[in-house]
Amino acid sequence: MEIEEFFQKFEGASLTYNDLIFLPSFIDFGHEAINLKTKVSREIEINIPICSSPMDTVTEDTLAIAIALQGGIGFIHYNMPPLEQAKQIQKVKRFKSGFVSDLITLDPSAKIWDVVGIRNDYGFTSIPITDNGKSHGKLVGMITKYDYSTLTQEDLDKTVLERMRPVEQLSVAAIDEISENGIVDIKQANTRLVDSHSTALPVTDREGHLLYFLTRSDLEKHMSCPHATSDSSKRLLVGAAVETWFEKAEERLSAIHRDVDVIVFDTSQGYTSYVIDLVKWTKQHYPDLQIIGGNVVTPDACQALIDAGVDGIRVGMGSGSICTTQEVGGVGRGQATAVYQCSKLCQQYGVPVIADGGIRKSSDIIKALGLGANAVMLGSLLASTNEAPGQTHIRDGVKVKEYRGMGSMQAMAKGSSVRYGIQDETIRVPEGVTGMVASRGSVEEWIPFLMQGVRQGLYKLGLKGVETIHEKLLSGDMHLERRSEEAKREGDIHGLYEVHMEALSSLSAPRETPPRQPQLN
Ligand code: XMP
Repeated sequence: MEIEEFFQKFEGASLTYNDLIFLPSFIDFGHEAINLKTKVSREIEINIPICSSPMDTVTEDTLAIAIALQGGIGFIHYNMPPLEQAKQIQKVKRFKSGFVSDLITLDPSAKIWDVVGIRNDYGFTSIPITDNGKSHGKLVGMITKYDYSTLTQEDLDKTVLERMRPVEQLSVAAIDEISENGIVDIKQANTRLVDSHSTALPVTDREGHLLYFLTRSDLEKHMSCPHATSDSSKRLLVGAAVETWFEKAEERLSAIHRDVDVIVFDTSQGYTSYVIDLVKWTKQHYPDLQIIGGNVVTPDACQALIDAGVDGIRVGMGSGSICTTQEVGGVGRGQATAVYQCSKLCQQYGVPVIADGGIRKSSDIIKALGLGANAVMLGSLLASTNEAPGQTHIRDGVKVKEYRGMGSMQAMAKGSSVRYGIQDETIRVPEGVTGMVASRGSVEEWIPFLMQGVRQGLYKLGLKGVETIHEKLLSGDMHLERRSEEAKREGDIHGLYEVHMEALSSLSAPRETPPRQPQLN
């Protein structure tokens, strides 16, 4: 049945991804034609339709870097002070860049432990040294890991001057040598860097003032992750969550707005006058900042947020794997219905939709996109990776990691009670649980695997990517059916005496571990 007709027929039903099945369509192209590029907001384009959720067991700087390297974008959570969040955002932005112009430099009198501190905080092992320590001061030398990594504890007190290589011994490019018609040519610069056999190439003006700094590790990262999402300066993209309590939001925005690419106002119910006023205020004070509003599940809520000025909308209420909002409050919506109804409205305004929560396997991602979403937001599927915060434990011989709802008692104690609007209440009913998820290894392996599942599904549907889906939705050419209970059983693995792990992991099903009773609160 055509999608619009289908949802008219099931008006009043709250359908989930598992209730639906898309029908295959004619294919006249090869797998290579599939392109997963999409947008999370009007201006922010990503290379795969994946965002990581701003939850304190999911997205901090390490995961945000890993996900951006794979082509998605991470949203750093707000259960931390604004300055700490700003620091994490900076770590992502500084992780990989083409021309670093926003440089970290030291002066020759700095100590080796300053260098070690920068390495620990930002991961930089090569640091340019300027006469006054300022980022565009006169270049006097460079210190690399070879100059300090084997030093003893006592040597950390030595000055940079004692260990650095002076400028006369360095390969340095003058800006004119790597520019054409006044425009810097990154290819020429990279060739100079490679030919220098050095770990980094400082670029200076004619007077020897430092302008940029290119590093070999950036070049390697770029070459090994060609699909990474990056800004115009080749720095990774990163998002951050901001609370919807005005005083806190104001403080956080002032700490993070310079570096962050996109923010999400993170609340479980985004259809409120507070959120609308906050969006308007933010647009007025930070007009260049991309804002995602939410969470919402109805077209009228989307309309209100769009009218207030949001650039993207996050859809989902109570569909997350750790959510109890629907059970506690009797409110929310089946995620398939919510995504379809909201996307239909948002598409008219060119406002991207992020389908948030309830994604358990690659087919759910395809269904979310097929219903009109531009991208999905993942919680549990990423909390289980090595890059998510927290330790890996062994339970019954299986590697597991903690995953908790931002509405669980433990997470709310760290600040996220504001997400549920109950920060001032003396009695708080948790709207989320804590639990454990089976480890899925590194993002580097897991995301390409998941995306290959998405590619295979899109191919069978005769879809080349998000743009084609939207065209088909508009032209009334997407067809789906409701699955009967028997059809769900038939579509799942059945009739086997034994199922091997390998088969299950291809579905990314959390059935690898025996289901455990979640701990309420
Ligand atoms: P998944 O299914 O990917 O869902 O694990 C992640 C999304 O769930 C939302 N979230 C919550 N919802 N109570 C809720 O009702 C909670 O404690 C909670 N914590 C997170 C959030 O939208 C996230 O992206």
